[in-house]
Amino acid sequence: MNNNYIIRKIKAGDADQFIKLGNLVWRSSYKDIFPEEVFNHMESRERMEKFKAGFSEQQLASDRIVCVAEVDGKLIGYFVGTFLSEYEHFKEKEYADLQAIYIHPDYQHIGLGKKFFDIFVNELRKRNIKNFAIGVLADNKKARKAYEKWGGILDNYTKQYVKLGVGYNEVFYTFETEKLKTDNIEVIKE
Ligand SMILES: CC(C)(COP(=O)(O)OP(=O)(O)OC[C@H]1O[C@@H](n2cnc3c(N)ncnc32)[C@H](O)[C@@H]1OP(=O)(O)O)[C@@H](O)C(=O)NCCC(=O)NCCS
Repeated sequence: MNNNYIIRKIKAGDADQFIKLGNLVWRSSYKDIFPEEVFNHMESRERMEKFKAGFSEQQLASDRIVCVAEVDGKLIGYFVGTFLSEYEHFKEKEYADLQAIYIHPDYQHIGLGKKFFDIFVNELRKRNIKNFAIGVLADNKKARKAYEKWGGILDNYTKQYVKLGVGYNEVFYTFETEKLKTDNIEVIKE
């Protein structure tokens, strides 16, 4: 396996690979959390076309940073971070939000997640943003362990993440940008 990935900002042409990677990681990571219908719904042509139609407007917006990692032109991971959380609870406190980190199963646990995390923290520091949150399904034990290792504090706030009419418990970790150890910051290619 070639671990020589590069990290760069997302571009409009990434839409197809971005969507497919998200679906693949969902299937592998959430197989014990969501029923099959949830994945089928995500992968439906209607939903994928809708996502693609709004892709540039959404992912290239100035209120966020979205980066991808690629190996030989193939996307192997991405993160989406917004500079102001869309959750009222965190928005009113002016928290940013690391909305998504998704890494291809073959490339998990080689430090890419932490690298993404550090890049996001660096972007927040540049903007003088002091705090951010990450929401995660309560049952996503692997991700929660990583967030705890990366310095996250479990918040009292919880929410129901609703998929196809069923609520799943979502918990949140909060982070103070000035207190975090970030040894992985690298220059992101445009
Ligand atoms: C959860 C996820 C984002 C973590 O990213 P990752 O690249 O696999 O994680 P890393 O390799 O950076 O870190 C994993 C381990 O190395 C440690 N690590 C790596 N670099 C580190 C550093 N510089 N400082 C501290 N810890 C570090 C992590 O703490 C963690 O420890 P563990 O092996 O005991 O779990 C990734 O596995 C993933 O995409 N999972 C599937 C989708 C998902 O659940 N996404 C989150 C949705 S909320």
